[in-house]
Amino acid sequence: MQTVSVVGLGIMGKALAQTLLGAGYSVTVWNRTIGKATELVSNGASLADSVDVAVDTSDTTLFCISSHQDTLSLLNEVEIPLEGKSIIELSSGAPEDACKLVSQINSKGGRCLVGMILGYPIDIGSDRSSITTAGNKSLWRDSQRMLKALAKNLTYISVDPKALSIMFSALFVSRQGYLFGMVYGALLFEKAGLPVQSYLDMLPQLNPVLEDYLEVVRKSIGSETYSNPQASLETIHDAFKDALDPYKALDIERDFPDLMSKIVARAISAGYGDEQMTAILKVLR
Ligand SMILES: NC(=O)c1ccc[n+]([C@@H]2O[C@H](COP(=O)([O-])OP(=O)(O)OC[C@H]3O[C@@H](n4cnc5c(N)ncnc54)[C@H](OP(=O)(O)O)[C@@H]3O)[C@@H](O)[C@H]2O)c1
Repeated sequence: MQTVSVVGLGIMGKALAQTLLGAGYSVTVWNRTIGKATELVSNGASLADSVDVAVDTSDTTLFCISSHQDTLSLLNEVEIPLEGKSIIELSSGAPEDACKLVSQINSKGGRCLVGMILGYPIDIGSDRSSITTAGNKSLWRDSQRMLKALAKNLTYISVDPKALSIMFSALFVSRQGYLFGMVYGALLFEKAGLPVQSYLDMLPQLNPVLEDYLEVVRKSIGSETYSNPQASLETIHDAFKDALDPYKALDIERDFPDLMSKIVARAISAGYGDEQMTAILKVLR
């Protein structure tokens, strides 16, 4: 079984180390503030007294500290050669720092995979968490079993570590779109003098519709097929008119729904009125 070190025992690093211990891995830990290792050591982890020792002891070292920049600084201080060593960077940070990190590790003879954790520390080890990775593909192959112990949903996107920031942005924009929509719905209820709670109580009823949307997005964009919609762009455009009317009547902020409606109108003008809602992609390109 792969031996693993975990560098960084903040709330996330601790969850990673504890989950690996629970999965039967031999785990070595290091943290700048040593006291944070006590509980893990009493649960069976070995304590390294330096990052050098942590990296040297195990086949693979997971870094989970504040940022790529901090990982870069720690690795700058590492004196041992990294030949035969694998580093998986699970801290977040700027894409250019992820690239620097990969180059730095490669130049010392090691392999590097950069990963983005989606989920809270409490989700680690469950099917609620996911880890998306980019970087060294052979390390990805060799680490799948260990990473699967941490997150049931694993993805490898590209050798280029910058791909992770693209994935982050795409997922962030997706979920913020939904969040913004819900806030605009609450605003309308509030301004209409209606009980906002009755709107909030209805929101879970949208779940089946959202699942349908997910299927539409995956199928249509995945195959570039936008014909035979359940609801055409023309239909959605009419619905937008109805949906925007109360905002106009109450003269309240509607920048976000207006913007959506305008994009739909552009797609209709471009000749996609009888296609899927997702055909807006063609006018956004
Ligand atoms: N928490 C989450 O929900 C979550 C989710 C996904 C991804 N992440 C990512 O996981 C990483 C860790 O997050 P966290 O929630 O565990 O944060 P945290 O609880 O604040 O822990 C930060 C960790 O980084 C260490 N650290 C900070 N600066 C350092 C430096 N210059 N040198 C050495 N160690 C340093 C801290 O050491 P000390 O103990 O000595 O201060 C601590 O171990 C972050 O990059 C975060 O974006 C977190």
